[in-house]
Amino acid sequence: MAEVVSVSMSGDIALVSIDSPPVNAMDQKVRAGLKQAFEQLRTRQGVKAIVLGCKGRTFVAGADIKEFDTGIAPPGYYEVLAAIEDSPCPVVAAVHGTALGGGMEIALACHYRVAHDGARFGLPELTLGIIPGAGGTQRLPRLIPLEAAIDLILSSKPMPAAKARELGLADAVVSGDVAEGALAFARELAARGAGPRRTRDQAVLGAENAAELFETKRAQVAKTMRNRQSPLALLDAIEAAVKLPFDQGLKAESAISDRLVPATEARALRHLFFAEREVRRIPGLSAEVKPRPVTRLGIVGAGTMGGGISMCYANAGVPVTIVDATQAALDKGMATVRKNYERSVARGSLKPEQMEQRMKLLTPSLDYAALGEADLVIEAVYENMALKKEIFAKLDAVVRKGAIIGTNTSTLDIDEIAAVTKRPEDVVGLHFFSPANVMPLLEIVHAKRTAPDVLVTALETAKQIKKTGVVAKVCYGFIGNRMMDPYAREAEHCLLEGATPEQVDGALEQFGMAMGILAVFDMAGVDIGYLTRLERKHLLPDDPTFYRPDTMLNERGWLGQKAGRGYYRYDSARKRIPDPEVVELLWAEGKRLKVEQRKPGTAEIQERCLYAMINEGARLLEEGVALRASDIDVVYTSGYGFPRYRGGPMFYADTVGLKAIYERILEFRRTLDPQYWTPAPLLEMLALAGSSFAAWQAGRGNQGAIST
Ligand code: 3HC
Repeated sequence: MAEVVSVSMSGDIALVSIDSPPVNAMDQKVRAGLKQAFEQLRTRQGVKAIVLGCKGRTFVAGADIKEFDTGIAPPGYYEVLAAIEDSPCPVVAAVHGTALGGGMEIALACHYRVAHDGARFGLPELTLGIIPGAGGTQRLPRLIPLEAAIDLILSSKPMPAAKARELGLADAVVSGDVAEGALAFARELAARGAGPRRTRDQAVLGAENAAELFETKRAQVAKTMRNRQSPLALLDAIEAAVKLPFDQGLKAESAISDRLVPATEARALRHLFFAEREVRRIPGLSAEVKPRPVTRLGIVGAGTMGGGISMCYANAGVPVTIVDATQAALDKGMATVRKNYERSVARGSLKPEQMEQRMKLLTPSLDYAALGEADLVIEAVYENMALKKEIFAKLDAVVRKGAIIGTNTSTLDIDEIAAVTKRPEDVVGLHFFSPANVMPLLEIVHAKRTAPDVLVTALETAKQIKKTGVVAKVCYGFIGNRMMDPYAREAEHCLLEGATPEQVDGALEQFGMAMGILAVFDMAGVDIGYLTRLERKHLLPDDPTFYRPDTMLNERGWLGQKAGRGYYRYDSARKRIPDPEVVELLWAEGKRLKVEQRKPGTAEIQERCLYAMINEGARLLEEGVALRASDIDVVYTSGYGFPRYRGGPMFYADTVGLKAIYERILEFRRTLDPQYWTPAPLLEMLALAGSSFAAWQAGRGNQGAIST
């Protein structure tokens, strides 16, 4: 028997135990071990019941995702789960941690389920662009009502043990040792001579109005999960459970699953699953380097960003001292934080006492000296080099030796900021995204002199506050904003060429961006980009059309949502309303500047914005600003609303084909302003070689390592 699965006896109860760190994923070894264990137990004399549990931190957390690319070696999921379900004596799953995906499907194939009170059950397959493919779509609606089953899988969110008990999925919930609890449960079954209770033999629950239910869910999915195929395919599979006998239902599930696994959507989402974990590995950084502890935080600037960052740390139980120049700024900042928490309380996601605990962790102060004990101080004032330098000089004087000083700059040269201190090795960029308490991304900017343990601490503190930290090197805009620049430039130019803001944003949203870039500018404040451009005016192209719409809106004070109008008008509920005045103004300006009136359509808008962004991404890779193409994908999907199901810009580029993108860029060079359309040498090289960013990354090994 494969050693990852062991069998032992406790009286007349057999204990089957999976031990395959880190998360007991159901890989080939686990499958083979389970099959063998259950086949042997079938014929073993004197076994009255079986408990199936896991060692380590969790019950099986899913099928092995790596196998979806390499192929599933036998035995297959159905074979293994059938061996469990066929057992002639009752099988009790002992669930702790997270029973996810294939793990939950194992539990569904068991005859009874005993859960630890902290356990959670979930089928998150849609987050991977697939459906539960080990019988989950057929067994779950036989254990809990059909609609609850559909909702659980559509949400991809795990449910707590108590809810599983309420729905009848878990037969018992225990605190303490779940293996003991399951053993006691099994003994009781054995004592009353209970036989197996096979899920497959039960009827689907709550299927009376199934046709209407599926119609409603399909309409809902078409609206909320646009451009995706797996959610609709999921509904087809669950409907098969209602319409077909179990075995035929499994065949339907299997056919759908086989179609989804190799599709682009699933490949893109798998790519991100691993990319989000890969970002933690920094080539060239020794595992011996240990982080400095972050137990006390300091923030400079009580504005939107400072407040949001403070909330991240308060949520993690870390006390925060917030310094600002005036009492009014501090009061306003603290009031905003409280309002944000109150909103969570109103939504029911936070208890009032938790809000008070978190508020107590925040101490406002007018005195920089109050930051003297902090382990990490993050400067979060607006983008102005002179101001940031002044603050860093002050911090250098008060912050204790060994503390780290971070800057939340989104574009500025951190080497220049660090140079005003006597300890540039303690300085690092920590670029949060607005709203900082919500957005999962943290861009960690490794400046020239940042010490290795400061970088490691930055990665660690990202984890501490549940963010995905991605390392970048210093350049204008780092990874995210640098690539955003040409993307937005094209969107802006299209407005001068006769496109409306709705057409531009519509094209980007149709592609799948969470929000069109013009609507993003309106939300963030049209002045933000304008002020940043003023800061680097000397570096910008000599082109009167460059970001001209943005400048014109600024000149008129049409700064977006906060002004009630920007690229759009806004009603009191901040709903976008098309504004013919803006359209006329920009079209007239385009004509005045002799911009060719191309009236770009959806495909052209998408290609220009995205290919300009991808081309810049290729430059970032050449320059070593981003360590990996997949890091760029993580930045864009977790910080910029790029659709996850397209895998991020660089993965998307590979799916289009670099040759096709390269050729389109050459065409744009011929037909648009050539100064913006020089293919990046890396893109050109890969396109001509018929290669891809993924292949380039795979062949690179440790090149591009952080030099420490
Ligand atoms: N397959 C392969 N590797 C997996 C895995 C899986 N299902 N789940 C986790 N891992 C790996 C991670 O890649 C990581 O590897 P690394 O250390 O080399 O980077 C390691 O296990 C630890 O994972 P995390 O860093 O994510 O650990 P956390 O403690 O933060 O989270 C977890 C644990 C909640 C279980 C999280 O790993 C997770 O959500 N895993 C995926 C769960 C999932 O999606 N399951 C469904 C899979 S699809 C399926 O089951 C299809 C079926 O229907 C046939």
